Amino acid sequence: MPRTEFISVGFHVPERVMTNDDLTQWWETSDEWIRERTGIEQRHWVEPGQEAGSDLALEATRKALAAADMDASELDCIIYATLSPDYFFPGGGVFLQRKLGIKGIPALDIRNQCTGFIYGLSIADAWIRTGQYRRVLLVGSEVHSTGMDFRPEGRDVSVLFGDGAGAAILGPTEDDGRGVLSTHLFADGRYAEKLWCESDASARFPRISHEDLDAGRHYALMEGREVFKHAVVRMPQSVRTALEANELSLEDVDLLIAHQANLRINEMVGRQLGLSEERVYNNIQRYGNTTAATIPIAVTEAVEKGLLNRGDLLLLTAFGSGFTWASAAVRW
Ligand code: COA
Repeated sequence: MPRTEFISVGFHVPERVMTNDDLTQWWETSDEWIRERTGIEQRHWVEPGQEAGSDLALEATRKALAAADMDASELDCIIYATLSPDYFFPGGGVFLQRKLGIKGIPALDIRNQCTGFIYGLSIADAWIRTGQYRRVLLVGSEVHSTGMDFRPEGRDVSVLFGDGAGAAILGPTEDDGRGVLSTHLFADGRYAEKLWCESDASARFPRISHEDLDAGRHYALMEGREVFKHAVVRMPQSVRTALEANELSLEDVDLLIAHQANLRINEMVGRQLGLSEERVYNNIQRYGNTTAATIPIAVTEAVEKGLLNRGDLLLLTAFGSGFTWASAAVRW
């Protein structure tokens, strides 16, 4: 059975840069507070109402297609991971497909928040190994800025998130030893309300009311400390699981790319695993948390900076709302 390789990657972020200082026009916060607690220095936001998540995904996909010297018509399937779909339904995948000017191929939407890219990778890997699809476009794309809670109490969540998209084109490789070695997916729904958005929701009647809007139930709600506590345990655990599954050790790891939610979380993860700073790639400083897009954006940058080369062992890990968490071992 062939393995799945990353044929190419690409990413796109909107032009508008919002520094920490820029945020003080809405919230009582400071560059110092945000940097110290999260490492974030700036993030990119769309021009409100001008760019949707599927537009960012389109740009990221175009770059990945160009890097692979491929045309969109050569794609067999789209997997689109997001927690901020353009619309409640249909999912973002069909909008991306339409913007790519192709039709007929399946478009699957993944709703696993910060873990969405690795969940999507797992599905793409299964399809490619079994021969169902040969050229899979896997995209993570988010627009958070149009859903920011601009009330004073929104400051804890709103300063963390940014907009952006990352894309990977995946396909089979017969090059023995290279490709996705394994993926490992986990979830624990007992913590669903620790980081969630309650309304607009079909579980409620009415789905959204004036009272919900007044109470801000349509904004993301997070118990930050609880999320932090679980993230620093689950991500290292999932990395170890991936290594054990492949009879590899931490010494074998060339690069760890963890979900970019908080630099402090990733520093703790790196320390727990005994990985030196050079072996852990972070870019949250410039983009904030772009949820399903953090990993493909970081992978693209790592490739562009020459930090990830053919044959290197790349470990991916993510943790987020659900709670869900996941890892992947990839021989690049
Ligand atoms: N600017 C300034 N002060 C802020 C603030 C902001 N943006 N947000 C919260 N505060 C204040 C709080 O009101 C609180 O004030 P108080 O002590 O007077 O009550 C104080 O800062 C500490 O708040 P707390 O929420 O306890 O801070 P923290 O040290 O836990 O840091 C997070 C908050 C969100 C940075 C941190 O919990 C975190 O990163 N958690 C994980 C988040 C995450 O990863 N989310 C995505 C998962 S995919």
